[in-house]
This record gives sequence, C-alpha cells and structure tokens, in this order.
Amino acid sequence: MTQADDFLRAGIETAQEAASMLLDGVRNLRSLVTEGKGPGDVVTDVDRRAESLIIDRLHQAFPDHGFLGEESGDSGSGDYRWIIDPIDGTLNFSRGYPHFCISIALAYGDEPVTAVVLDPVRNELFSASANGGAWLNGSPLQVSNCTALEHALLGVVFPKPGSPLLAGFLPVMTRALNVAGGVRRSGSMVLDLAYVAAGRLDGFWELGMKPWDIAAGALLVREAGGWVASLDGEESLLNARSLLACTPGLREQLEMLCLPD
Ligand code: IPD
Ligand code: CA
Ligand code: CA
Repeated sequence: MTQADDFLRAGIETAQEAASMLLDGVRNLRSLVTEGKGPGDVVTDVDRRAESLIIDRLHQAFPDHGFLGEESGDSGSGDYRWIIDPIDGTLNFSRGYPHFCISIALAYGDEPVTAVVLDPVRNELFSASANGGAWLNGSPLQVSNCTALEHALLGVVFPKPGSPLLAGFLPVMTRALNVAGGVRRSGSMVLDLAYVAAGRLDGFWELGMKPWDIAAGALLVREAGGWVASLDGEESLLNARSLLACTPGLREQLEMLCLPD
C-alpha cells in the first residue's frame, strides 16, 4: 500500500466515523445547539464535535501533520496539513435540509493531494488522490463533456447577506441566467464541486470562499479531468477567494461570463 493510499484510507475512515454524528444530529434537530457566526452563517455543536473527532483521529495516525479546521483554526505544523470542513452546508444541516457533507483534504504545502467528501444522507463518498484519479463510491469520476454554455447546468454560491461581493456577483448572475442552460444554488459548495467532478454540474463559480471550502472539491474536479482556477489571479488555490470550476470545454465561456463589469 502506498503512502497516498494510507492518507486516503485514513481520511475515509475518519469521515465515516464523523458521519454518524451528523446523521444523529439531523435526526435530533431539537437537541442541536446552534449559534450565529455572522450574517447567514451558523455553527452547531455537531460541527465542533465532528471537527474535534476528525482532528483527534488524524493526529493519532499522523502525529507530524498540521491541521486547519474551519471551527478550530490552525494547529500543529508540518509539510502536510489536513484541511477540514466538518459540515459544509451547516445552514442546510441545522434545518434538516438534507444536503450537506464532510470535507477532509490533505495538502502538501499549498497543493491538495488527498480529498474525501462524504454526503452522509445519500451515502455518497467522493474521493481523490493527486495524479491517481477521483471516485464516487469506488467508481471512477469524469467531468461531463459539455462544451456549450446554453446547455450547461451551473452551480453557484450566493454572497452572504450584506456582503460587499453582492454588487459584483449580480451582473455575473444576470448574464448566467440569460445564457446558461440552468443555474443551481445548493447551499453546499463542496458538494457543488463534487458534482462538477461527477458530471452532475458542468460548471461552478463562487466569490468569497475559504481554504476548507475549496481544498477537497478542487482536487476532485482536477482528478476528474476538469478545470479549476482562481478568478482573482491567485496562484495558490488554497489562498484564492474566488473560484471557477468546469469542464475543459466551458472554460473560456465561463471566464468571459465571470469577468467583472
Ligand atoms: C458554506 C457553504 C455554502 C456557501 C457558503 C459557505 P459552511 O459553508 O459552502 O454553500 O454558500 O459561502 O460558507 O459555512 O456551511 O461550511
Ligand atoms: Ca462548515
Ligand atoms: Ca464550508
């Protein structure tokens, strides 16, 4: 077994262990402790407990790796760093809206090398290793062959309430609604990226995300043959604040669509 296989296996086993916490949480919504983090942003006790379990397990397996978790920030250090979003789509989760996931990525420096995204409701496990391919429940993933925006189904993230990004977002959204085959807003950016990798969406763009929103999904899209890049010229995807992900055939059309006015 290679080192890449060890990383992937540890990520998958850890995500599966945390998944039961999320399923218990969504079955017992009245017991959830939910706090506001900011406009349109919440955190629950399950986010915190799941993140802490994921970090504990991965730290036991890889004591010389660092961590970046959405809820706990940076801990430890090392060339390898696990980047964790314990629940992507917490607002959905907190309402029992069944579309959210666990996202665990391992980065070497700034490059994601392992990706594990688990949708516990549908029991869909998306995984990828750098230069090793991407899979859904063990079957290889491939982006769609869509080349025409008019036939494309696109995913998007809406800026949060009151966000200064809204002014730049609306003209792009207007153009997309005018020319694209369809536009979806799911509430889980990580699943949006996994769906691009799986060919369920043909493209996706977002303004204003964080490393834990990108790390795993970007590797899934790349390994499934898709194009992923920052829209702000940032070389390192982990530091990017705006992202385009799509089939290779849609890249130029989406880059034009996303140009600022
Ligand atoms: C959020 C989701 C959502 C996106 C937000 C993210 P969270 O992550 O990905 O789709 O609209 O910008 O913050 O807070 O649920 O982990
Ligand atoms: Ca989260
Ligand atoms: Ca997130």
